[in-house]
Amino acid sequence: CGIVGYVGSNLAYPVLIDGLKKLEYRGYDSAGVALHTGNSIEVYKKEGKVSALEGSVYGKNIQATIGIGHTRWATHGEPSDRNAHPHSSNSGDIAMIHNGIIENYAQLKNELLQKGYTFKSDTDSEVLVNFIEDIKINNECSLEEAVRIALKRVVGAYVILLLDKDLPDTIIAARKGSPLVIGIGDNAHYLGSDASPMLAYTKEVVYINDYELAIVRPDELVLKNLGNERITPFVQKLDIELASIEKGGFDHFMLKEIFEQPQTIFDSLRGRMDAEQQSITLSGVDKIADKLLKANRVIIVACGTSWHAGLLAEYVIEELCRINVEVEYASEFRYRNPIITDQDVIIAISQSGETADTLVALENAKKQGATIFGLVNVVGSSIARIADAGAYTHAGPEIGVASTKAFTAQLAVLYLIALKVAQLKGTIEATLFNKLLADLAKVPEHVKEILEDQDAIIQEIARKYSDARDFLYLGRGYNFPIALEGALKLKEVSYIHAEGYPAAEMKHGPIALVDDQLPVVFVATKDSYHEKIISNIQEIKARKGKVIAVVSHGDEVAADLADDVMFVPQVHEIIAPILSVIPLQLLSYHIGVNRGLDVDKPRNLAKSVTVE
Ligand code: G6P
Repeated sequence: CGIVGYVGSNLAYPVLIDGLKKLEYRGYDSAGVALHTGNSIEVYKKEGKVSALEGSVYGKNIQATIGIGHTRWATHGEPSDRNAHPHSSNSGDIAMIHNGIIENYAQLKNELLQKGYTFKSDTDSEVLVNFIEDIKINNECSLEEAVRIALKRVVGAYVILLLDKDLPDTIIAARKGSPLVIGIGDNAHYLGSDASPMLAYTKEVVYINDYELAIVRPDELVLKNLGNERITPFVQKLDIELASIEKGGFDHFMLKEIFEQPQTIFDSLRGRMDAEQQSITLSGVDKIADKLLKANRVIIVACGTSWHAGLLAEYVIEELCRINVEVEYASEFRYRNPIITDQDVIIAISQSGETADTLVALENAKKQGATIFGLVNVVGSSIARIADAGAYTHAGPEIGVASTKAFTAQLAVLYLIALKVAQLKGTIEATLFNKLLADLAKVPEHVKEILEDQDAIIQEIARKYSDARDFLYLGRGYNFPIALEGALKLKEVSYIHAEGYPAAEMKHGPIALVDDQLPVVFVATKDSYHEKIISNIQEIKARKGKVIAVVSHGDEVAADLADDVMFVPQVHEIIAPILSVIPLQLLSYHIGVNRGLDVDKPRNLAKSVTVE
């Protein structure tokens, strides 16, 4: 998840290690470096922290003034020494580090296997380095040319850095969709995923654009496009503090992660859906398709925010797939002696893949014969390993303790699962399937629009309500789980008491709390229950409650009734929740910040709860 490179006249290894430490904030599970010693390329890599890598390199040959380094966050293959980067080609002549995902790696791998290539890791990256080597050998061309040819066939996102035994003073780099910065030093160049690894050495940097290739030597930086035409590097002067770079210019990781959602949702859908072909590819679902199609019921097991994703999945899977779904708090489920048979399919949802209650609940269910499907963000985590099949969310490492981007990634993949199963079962009409897939494809763009248009408005709203003592969050149908999630987010980061309720159920209790001091947040996008929720808003207004509403663009009725409004684009009601949660994340964030709290690390909370 972080890359560094150095080519110059000093020893490369200390610069690389220092750079990798600067990138540690991004989260990672293994680290490695490759050094060109003049005669050979030495690769050192290790699962765990950069300090573990340093320990393993102690006493080894580090006499090199050129090298590349990597911290890995697993996307293909569990965290391990052999899956860590750099990866070497079969001949050992090329070493490469890669950030991103190669979507068509399976096809490329098959071609290479037929040619006799072998693979030591489970990664898509090792496929790419061998694909490049194969082109270099067959075309008898330079590494630079081989990279150019290879990248024309690669589908996906990448930033790659390569060393070649034949080029003792050159790093070749290329990017598409993942960041790459090159710092210009004194007879030296520094490469990084962001500028933090090079800040100690230089303030002059070049940001590399998509589809550009860099040939980097101590005294020379040549930039080219994939058509082999030279591009003039645009040198910028950095004027930033280290701390702000780590957060990508955002004040907090939570805000950075909220703003990353257009990309992380896209990454979670990427390569899995084809709106034109009307098809969804999820190998995990295929693997247990027979079980899913015959299942008595699906039981969803999770905790916290992941449980809210599960609750929405219940509504969606029951509607689209006509399978009975139960959603369980893992901590209750594991102690309740639940009735489980081998006809049950359990979907476990977990960002970390390590939550103790969820894990033990699965172990128990597995013993009783249930089939386990894991929806997990951390590759190779305990829940991913215990599952019979699964799908990863590609949200990347989530640093903020209160979950944001992992939640929307979970929803994105849950939609795909529901649609895929519905298609297999024949419980969905083609027109609805196509509409939902088309709306899903537009979600990243819509999220971007909400973030751009609403953030300033939500900051204002947050200012008005930052001193409130309690909040009530109400929603109906598909938006009910979002009301719960909105309330949870507020509690976590602002320490204001908040309750989420089904909008109509509020008449059975919470309405007694309503007075002119109580802000009530309605998740009231246009859906089949819209008139009902309008009545609920009126009931609150009649009791002088303050109404803050998330409404669809163009919905004047709801907007006029509410004291404060946050708009979201209108999409099919099943897809709407993945949009309506975004303003609520921002509202919690801004209220927490206004109250002077550490929103990234709220008191008493843990990112990964590994005790029961
Ligand atoms: C903790 C975190 C929450 C998270 C929950 C479940 O409480 O603070 O953000 O939703 O655990 O974690 P999981 O990793 O299983 O999704």
